[in-house]
Amino acid sequence: MRNRPRRNRSSSAIRGMVRETFIHPSKLIYPIFIAQERSAREEIPSMPGIYRLGIEGVLEEIQACMQVGIQSFIVFPAVPDSLKDPVASYSYDPDNFYLKAISEAKSAFPQSCIITDVAMDPYSSDGHDGLVQAGEILNDETLEILAKMSVAQAQAGADVLGPSDMMDGRIGYIRDALDQAEFKKVGLMSYCAKYASSFYGPFRDALESAPKEGDKKTYQMDPANSGEALREAELDEAEGADYLMVKPALLYLDVIALLKEMSNLPIVAYQVSGEYSMIHAAGQRGWLDLEASMEEALLSIRRAGADIIISYYAKKFAQKYWG
Ligand code: PBG
Repeated sequence: MRNRPRRNRSSSAIRGMVRETFIHPSKLIYPIFIAQERSAREEIPSMPGIYRLGIEGVLEEIQACMQVGIQSFIVFPAVPDSLKDPVASYSYDPDNFYLKAISEAKSAFPQSCIITDVAMDPYSSDGHDGLVQAGEILNDETLEILAKMSVAQAQAGADVLGPSDMMDGRIGYIRDALDQAEFKKVGLMSYCAKYASSFYGPFRDALESAPKEGDKKTYQMDPANSGEALREAELDEAEGADYLMVKPALLYLDVIALLKEMSNLPIVAYQVSGEYSMIHAAGQRGWLDLEASMEEALLSIRRAGADIIISYYAKKFAQKYWG
């Protein structure tokens, strides 16, 4: 036998030398849920270890992450029901606690990258990403609201905006609105291949943002399709996206690989809430080794072609390997 592939696996030094995939903390984005009350700290029952934090906790969390090399954060607002309405008007209210938190975080950590969420669901009494009329999710009417929300987030100091709504034409519409308001340097990280997934459940618990009626299948993509992801990617690229995202991650590695091949933009993969909770729950029961499973999942996502990974495990991972 001349070829013995096991020779290249025979010691830790050799395995290190032939290893193809690495994850540096600069490639990770840590999601943070922001609550209104400044000192809030509420653990999300379906996501042990992840909290809704008031600005005080947000600043501590950013500091802890920066110490281990994570510099990028994607932030989501946990909006009280009393501030929700059918047109998501709180999303661009100058008193909005989320916008204020972004400004505070940027002034405390100017070197960080703060990425926002652009979609109506955290603010919508209907729990949908777009305007609802007689059970239908309106597209073009939603774009106007998304544009207002985007300009407000840019004004607050966000570095990159993350449209997660899946309305048609929103990347171009938002790009134009930002440029008109002179926010030419603010980037767009498009949730481009966002699937109608059941793995968002724990996130909807965190924000109490589940749809009041119906589902999101008329705007989020069918898990059975990949051609559609390529079509969305082409459109978003032409409309001026700076990053393309695939979401969820581990169940859509083929889509990550496809997008990486067809585009020169950085490809982002979002390891979503359900992916976190699944590994965590099995780890807690002793059915899986939590840390080893976490690392294997992140490596696989990177190996498939993701340049950047959004992960609720980002802090834990970086603390383990870079702390
Ligand atoms: C909604 C949004 C969702 C997530 C990010 N933005 C959920 C949804 O579409 O209902 C999910 C993220 C996660 O599950 O971690 N605009």
